[in-house]
Amino acid sequence: MTTAAPEPKANMGQPIPRYDAVAKVTGKAAYAADVPLVNPVHAYLVTSSIAKGRIDSFDLAAAKRVRGVIAIVTHENAEKLRDAKLFSNGGYASTTNQPLKSNEIAEEGQIIAIVLAENYEAAREASHLVKVNYTAATPTTTFDSLGVTSAPAKGQLARFKEDPKVGDFAKAYNDAQVRFNGEYETPPQHHNPMELFATSCVWNGDSLTIYEPSQYVHGLKNGVAAQLRIDADKVRVINAYVGGAFGSKGSMTPRTAIIASLARQLRRPVKLVATREQGFNIATYRAETRHHVQLGADNDGKLIALRHEGWEISSRADAYAVGGTKTTTRLYDCPNVESLVSIVRADRNTPGFMRSPPEVPYMFALESAMDELAFRLKMDPIELRRINDATKEPIGGKPFTSRSLMACFDEGAKAFGWANRKSEPKSMSDGDWLIGYGCAATCYPTQMAPAAARVRLQHDGRTRVEIAGHEIGNGAYTVIAQAAAEKLDVPVEKVSMFIGDSDLPPAPVAGGSNSTASTCSAVMMVCDQIRQRLFKAVMPRESLVDKAKETVGIGKTPVTEAAKSDQPLDREKAFDALGVSVVEEYGEWKPDGAPMDSFRAMYNGQMRMVGGPEMKDKIAYAFGAEFVEVRVNRWTHEIRVPRLLGVFAAGHIMNPRTARSQLMGGLIWGMSSALHEATELDERYARYVNDNLADYLVPVNADAPSVEVIMLSEQDDQINPAGVKGIGELGNVGTNAAVCNAIFNATGQRIRRLPVRLEQIET
Ligand code: MOS
Repeated sequence: MTTAAPEPKANMGQPIPRYDAVAKVTGKAAYAADVPLVNPVHAYLVTSSIAKGRIDSFDLAAAKRVRGVIAIVTHENAEKLRDAKLFSNGGYASTTNQPLKSNEIAEEGQIIAIVLAENYEAAREASHLVKVNYTAATPTTTFDSLGVTSAPAKGQLARFKEDPKVGDFAKAYNDAQVRFNGEYETPPQHHNPMELFATSCVWNGDSLTIYEPSQYVHGLKNGVAAQLRIDADKVRVINAYVGGAFGSKGSMTPRTAIIASLARQLRRPVKLVATREQGFNIATYRAETRHHVQLGADNDGKLIALRHEGWEISSRADAYAVGGTKTTTRLYDCPNVESLVSIVRADRNTPGFMRSPPEVPYMFALESAMDELAFRLKMDPIELRRINDATKEPIGGKPFTSRSLMACFDEGAKAFGWANRKSEPKSMSDGDWLIGYGCAATCYPTQMAPAAARVRLQHDGRTRVEIAGHEIGNGAYTVIAQAAAEKLDVPVEKVSMFIGDSDLPPAPVAGGSNSTASTCSAVMMVCDQIRQRLFKAVMPRESLVDKAKETVGIGKTPVTEAAKSDQPLDREKAFDALGVSVVEEYGEWKPDGAPMDSFRAMYNGQMRMVGGPEMKDKIAYAFGAEFVEVRVNRWTHEIRVPRLLGVFAAGHIMNPRTARSQLMGGLIWGMSSALHEATELDERYARYVNDNLADYLVPVNADAPSVEVIMLSEQDDQINPAGVKGIGELGNVGTNAAVCNAIFNATGQRIRRLPVRLEQIET
């Protein structure tokens, strides 16, 4: 006789397959533009072909003659919507350059007209027949262009208020035994999510439903309502799935309120699917950056001086800055630190978040510079990092809640075979190929924001979880279901998930890698409320009285303690005792240190994110170490990356399967940010040249033949109830530096400007 082993509980920490896997691979998952509409009008954007100047006139005669065209809307006849404030200045918008307001043109690709037609083909055909007479002025495009204006970024954004600084950098640098300084540059990049920037708007009386891929349905709902001057509760945003976003769908773009206003006027649903080319201009992007890093050290490698100055491009309209020195000034132990970030204004669309926004460019500079310093010191680059490892960040002296950076390096070095590396460049080869090994640190702030959830448990274990989280490929459905299954002790198959709808309890933007920590913490808290009700029904009254006497602290009772513990619950018995078949709870969770107005702000679609370096007396980051092997052909200078390996420690991993795929994707994207990706600018016209997936280089499988992800277990009780640090952005930080460090090891050439192109290699 055999006894079957008990099924492992499919709960937190188990590598269960994606909740949405079958829907996605069978094509059943409906994205925003897939949602069928009744008798829709199709909208097609006409965008500016100049970057600066004005529209003198339109000639719409030919366009209007196309059969099926209903109307063409320009600044001359568009409804005047209320101006939108930038998301970081208390608003919701990704840009304050509101199109269709006047004849002024402030950026290439600005929306200047919208063709409305009975079908997509007619709208598109007519758009090509719209004739525009412009008076064009000469735009300034990027760094070094005539007419750019530069100013310190400090204080211009709500989330970017400081240039971290401690000690006396100038003196320490001057006194240092070894000095290094280097200048680095990263290019503009566009997110290029597979799912295009689509918006469908449907009015039902005075209520508006918006189908749009968004990383923040509550933000979008409130932002559109403000622009339309209507009550936010009249607006509903729905997106069960988001086909990639990476920051580009995090804040409201101007298109949404415009489409909503057109639908209101036409009294018909209006559907817009912007083209990929248009997406380069009507949404945000990662702006190009420049860096100057200065490092001073003792002969034994101890850092005594560090300065990081950065410059970033933004638009004329908005002072957007990512400001990554808040991380690079805190990564290593160093007593004298200085930093400064400046915004350089050009005639461009406003940039925004793109996966690991500040760390990708800023850590490229720092982690390249650390490798350069190690070489100068004739020291292994991992040892240099060990000597400068920190338990407290140097700026405010706050302790890290946990920090496994060196454990990641040590594990990675073993797994990668780092000991086989020869530190002298050009000393490893295989036939025509020079071989190089490189590594770099990665880190990403642990962030959390208030969230609310509703959970309903039935007597038979069926569970319904409602929270306006977002499935942007991050595994949100899966990990939130796991959190509920774990807490309520039900099989995960019995959990039904409802996310991606602003009628659900609000959750924060799926950005800044906060989403799993925030949503799971909220859902776990609400599940505890359910457990409390059930425990209360079944715990014997005498034991409650007895235990109450020895109780543990204010607000703690035997029931609440039992609910929070792992103590098993007899569900059927509890339901019988309560005499009900369904228990439902709603709750609002906020992280430690979130401000008093957090919950009100949450319903208003405004974030109160806490974490990273901004916590009160601690600092929370996830860490990792990345290793890269490159092969550079001696003759053609072709660069290949046969191996990528990353070791990560990010607190509790809710699901190793979804986490692994996130981190793999990160590593591949990080490698690509060194070798492939760049938006090319035509400086004469401030225009993006390669605005399509044929010319915008992204990696394919052949570019990443071996990608290995190792996750170290790490327990951190100081961050949030879920113990989660977040992994969405950790994987692609530092990889670009690791690639360049490996190229140096292979060739002796230091590439400080991304992306690396083979013509930059001279061997
Ligand atoms: Mo992300 S760039 O925080 O969506």
